[in-house]
Amino acid sequence: MTHTFPHLPYPYDSLEPYIDAKTMEVHYSKHHRAYFDKFMAAIQSTKLESTSLYEIFANMSQHPPAIRNNGGGFYNHILYWNCMTPNGGGAPTGKINDDIISTFGSFETFQQQFTEAAINTFGSGFAWLIVKDGQLKITSTSNQDNPLMDVVTVQGEPILALDVWEHAYYISYQNRRPEYIEAWWNVVNWDAVSENYIQALAQNK
Ligand SMILES: [Fe+2]
Repeated sequence: MTHTFPHLPYPYDSLEPYIDAKTMEVHYSKHHRAYFDKFMAAIQSTKLESTSLYEIFANMSQHPPAIRNNGGGFYNHILYWNCMTPNGGGAPTGKINDDIISTFGSFETFQQQFTEAAINTFGSGFAWLIVKDGQLKITSTSNQDNPLMDVVTVQGEPILALDVWEHAYYISYQNRRPEYIEAWWNVVNWDAVSENYIQALAQNK
């Protein structure tokens, strides 16, 4: 099958104290699962059952909202989970570190700009670090859109995702999105982001 619901790469409680176990359980087993199930229902008995998400997103303008919202929700959460780890945080090493510094001036400036993009995402959405024409770029999208979709303003290959829907932080942080983002930096999986970056460059993204 082309589309399968993935396992969470770590236990629900393993990102504590930064992201609590209940949030992770509800977020993965209810929210993410619902996006997947609704996406599968929306593409049932169509050729999209065997079409990659990349291809679906590249032609998103031709598909109905149920596919945009739920296909986005399905993909976006996979990247979000994979960009976190219990032993995360700190700063990256290697090429991505060098390129973050040459693009943004310093790692701290990058963090600040990414944090601002996430805080300023109006309503529900995601903040992203993407590769566009070989360059690193920060962007954000609304609802369950993502930079792979032909319907968004800034397109590119996502290598880091931050979910800023209230369902991602409300239990621990209520309306305090900036506190959630500050905590989230402690669980960022830079090894995974670095791998995503190398792959994106290898594919000439
Ligand atoms: Fe979410």
